Amino acid sequence: MTQKWTPLSWESKKALHQPNYLDKSKLQKVLKKLKKLPPLVFAGEVRDLKESLSMCGDAKGFLLQAGDCAESFAEFHPNYIRDTFRVILQMSVILSFASGVPITKVGRLAGQFAKPRSSAIEKKNDVELPSYLGDMINGIEFNINSREHNPDRMIMAYNQAASTQNLLRAFAYGGYADLSRIQRWNLDFVKKSKQGSKFKLLADRISECLSFMSSCGITSKNVRQLSETNFFISHEALLLPYESAFTRVDSTTGDWYDTSAHMVWIGDRTRQLNGAHVEFCRGISNPIGIKVGPTSDYKELIKVIKRINPNNEKGKIVLIVRMGASKIEKIFPNILRKIKSAKLNVVWSSDPMHANIEKSKSGYKTRNFKNILNEVKSFFKIHEKEETYAGGIHLEMTGQNVTECIGGLQKISDKDLSSRYHTHCDPRLNASQSIELAFLIASFLKKI
Ligand code: PEP
Ligand code: CO
Repeated sequence: MTQKWTPLSWESKKALHQPNYLDKSKLQKVLKKLKKLPPLVFAGEVRDLKESLSMCGDAKGFLLQAGDCAESFAEFHPNYIRDTFRVILQMSVILSFASGVPITKVGRLAGQFAKPRSSAIEKKNDVELPSYLGDMINGIEFNINSREHNPDRMIMAYNQAASTQNLLRAFAYGGYADLSRIQRWNLDFVKKSKQGSKFKLLADRISECLSFMSSCGITSKNVRQLSETNFFISHEALLLPYESAFTRVDSTTGDWYDTSAHMVWIGDRTRQLNGAHVEFCRGISNPIGIKVGPTSDYKELIKVIKRINPNNEKGKIVLIVRMGASKIEKIFPNILRKIKSAKLNVVWSSDPMHANIEKSKSGYKTRNFKNILNEVKSFFKIHEKEETYAGGIHLEMTGQNVTECIGGLQKISDKDLSSRYHTHCDPRLNASQSIELAFLIASFLKKI
């Protein structure tokens, strides 16, 4: 018999990758405050997302989950949020035009502040300090004060998430996403590129359709779907004290929801069946992502899925596969077959980022566009062979013109990395690379 679930029942389990707060009374004070703060999302919206995801599981939709590896306090600017939002919109148009199915857009935004790290300690010269765990836990600057785990940072993260979510809602529902504005979504620096021109051609075709529809009386003024778009937020549910402080009962249904995001996911390092993260996630009604890395054991994965989704509800579980370009063909088919034969309802999504990290010759943590593309290609190919549906993609990207990932049509090379390398954690695709990748994925979905 499984024990009774509460928002804090995870405390009796082993919780990996948690901070060590020295001042316990300060922690309690902060948590008390967080519990009273307004939710960032509403249960009804979470149910809408679940319905959209159930379509992604049934080959009637496609999930585009994208955004920062780690949001940061320093890089908080409305223009950055707008630019990331509009690149996601562009990618979504490219994907929906190709596939003919609605795209469920979920940002790695408005709460993606906590990071699991491979080592708890960072060493520079002879100095050892706690690793940077994301801005909601400690600071990136390499000094003792900044690296201390500070509970106040949870409040700062909440405030930034709330402002970000406010802006995203305005963009999604306030006219910015109106399809008739599609020509204006191309960012200046993307416009001049090959991908920019390709997007312009697509936008021209869509504008032509819109003007025909308008002549029939169908415009964004009378059809809401043309003037608005869905946009959900998500992050890794890593920092459990924070997540449980936002876990509230929905007055309509009496069910528990984590109101810090519409969707949360369990990382590859914290997906143990008897671990605290699985325990926390089994009690909330949000859709749950589970990272499936090369060390995943299918028997344990099946148990985890059944524990989190005992009623096999559709749209509840998203399996985010991140094997690496060189391993996916060998490891993934067997896991896929086992989940399929267990008849578990899941959305299959590909994260071609997290197992394709390498160190460049000049010492930067980077990813090669070729490997990213190859992992996605293999993901689609394996699904085609097994007659299952590749239902989504999970990306780390930004709307800025950064130079963090090598390759792509811009031919970013190792020596370019130092020019605009701004990430606080993993290297992200820039706007041009994101659009380029969306066109390539579109070609797998269906030839445009
Ligand atoms: C992430 O998505 O930011 C992450 C850390 O991924 P993973 O758990 O798959 O390594
Ligand atoms: Co990352």
